[in-house]
Amino acid sequence: MDRYCVFGNPIGHSKSPLIHRLFAEQTGQALTYDAVLAPLDDFPGCARAFFATGRGGNVTVPFKEQAFELADQLSARAERAGAVNTLKKLDDGRLLGDNTDGAGLVRDLTRNAGLALAGKRILLLGAGGAARGVIEPLLAEKPAALVIANRTLEKAENLARLFAELGPVSASGFDWLEEPVDLIVNGTSASLAGDLPPISPRLIQPGHTFCYDMMYGKEPTAFNRWAASHGAARTLDGLGMLVEQAAEAFLLWRGVLPDSAPVLAELRRQLA
Ligand code: ATR
Repeated sequence: MDRYCVFGNPIGHSKSPLIHRLFAEQTGQALTYDAVLAPLDDFPGCARAFFATGRGGNVTVPFKEQAFELADQLSARAERAGAVNTLKKLDDGRLLGDNTDGAGLVRDLTRNAGLALAGKRILLLGAGGAARGVIEPLLAEKPAALVIANRTLEKAENLARLFAELGPVSASGFDWLEEPVDLIVNGTSASLAGDLPPISPRLIQPGHTFCYDMMYGKEPTAFNRWAASHGAARTLDGLGMLVEQAAEAFLLWRGVLPDSAPVLAELRRQLA
């Protein structure tokens, strides 16, 4: 049977095995999918050992940049993201590195939440790996503007420069922003600590602005609680993005796009 896995450290709480087993069941694909705890000091050795027989792997914290280095060939979107979350063994034995995170976010926003992004003003909070991974797919939707705001301004400026040729992207400090936007995506890791990026509530136009936290949890995240309290039209968390990035990876490996809706519903049920 074809073998797949997710590499991470820690990996115990990964939902990827459940998601991919549900996808396999739903699409009638015969495969196995396991969680692999890769040693912090030898991700490449662990990945190579797996790919002696394995067909594909997802990569999560903290190995996405190392997977980028390991891949023999990169998709254009992985190249821009500077990180790989999906590896596929090609027929000639080489490893293809892809990044499906941004496509997962965009699909969750456009298809699941019904928010068309063309012509919209988007504010992306954060300039770390998570934020970088979603910039190209967001720009591909042709927004009117994509502003990257970060605590460390220089990192936002670097990203804005890196992606400048792909669309109307600019950098900002948190406290420069005053005008309401259509969508705020929180790509900082602040929610992990229950913190909020210090942005003005005036950025939310009550009843209009969508807010998306790339984090998720059993309870609404600090960012989503803040957004809801200031009248956001919708608050969405990153569980949908998690399932959609997995669906994109499954498509790359198996050539079949699974239906994410029942899988997302099952995950949501298990979180409750
Ligand atoms: P990830 O892979 O999750 O993106 P990262 O690359 O370490 O992790 O990036 C974390 C991001 O969250 C950065 O944009 C960071 O801001 P800095 O670049 O200024 O460090 C942001 N971040 C983390 N904690 C934050 C907080 N409490 N408030 C605002 N931004 C925060």
